[in-house]
Amino acid sequence: MAAFTCDITLVPAELKAAGPAGKTVIAVDVLRASTTIVRSLARGAHKVTPFTEPDEVFAAATAYTGGTALMCGERHMVRIPGFDLGNSPAAYYAERVRGRTLLLTTSNGTRIFAIAAEAAAVFTGSFVNMDAAAQAAANGDTDILIACAGTDGRMSLEDTLCAAMLMRRITAAGRHIPACTDSAAAAGTLYDSLAHDLYGAVARSAHGRRLIQAGFEHDVQDACSVNDEVCVPVMKGDSIYLL
Ligand code: MLT
Repeated sequence: MAAFTCDITLVPAELKAAGPAGKTVIAVDVLRASTTIVRSLARGAHKVTPFTEPDEVFAAATAYTGGTALMCGERHMVRIPGFDLGNSPAAYYAERVRGRTLLLTTSNGTRIFAIAAEAAAVFTGSFVNMDAAAQAAANGDTDILIACAGTDGRMSLEDTLCAAMLMRRITAAGRHIPACTDSAAAAGTLYDSLAHDLYGAVARSAHGRRLIQAGFEHDVQDACSVNDEVCVPVMKGDSIYLL
């Protein structure tokens, strides 16, 4: 068994400090960007191109004609004015997204991809593609960094739980992890105490509560459907495709 490290970074600043260069990064934003990316590609979207700012999406959209690209994303949880779609995974149903390029910007999740640009590989991880993402990372021959998007620079419970579950499944998939950072150990301890009621924990998280209050309870339930999808989105160039 190869002895590679598997680290968890709880916020984007920690990802920068850990240094993604040469590692396999799994980007995690359970509520809701990484769930939306997995769901939309599983339902036939051609690719997802992540952007930091809405203005970048408006500019990129001018290169596409005939409805081949959709402008997607949220600010303050709701669809950005002038955009085609917000950030509810259910809105990315097969007939809407099949064959299309999705130009996506979200408050926190899509920023991770720019920070991870020098990684050896960047996968998208979520509860809904848990085992597929864990297995893909375990199959590689680099150190692994599971990068939580968090919320506005702060740690988020749902991303931390997802990252810890990924770490556990990566170990189960055959990776021997020789040492654990404090962030990874803390995430694992939290996971052990909350895993018996995953949906309850995510629904009680700060962003879970915000989404439910704003009428997006279905999205929170959707995001907690472990292993609904058997696919791994991977960054190639500036866009995310299925592996
Ligand atoms: C984010 O990137 O912060 C999230 O995906 C926000 C959301 O739409 O819930």
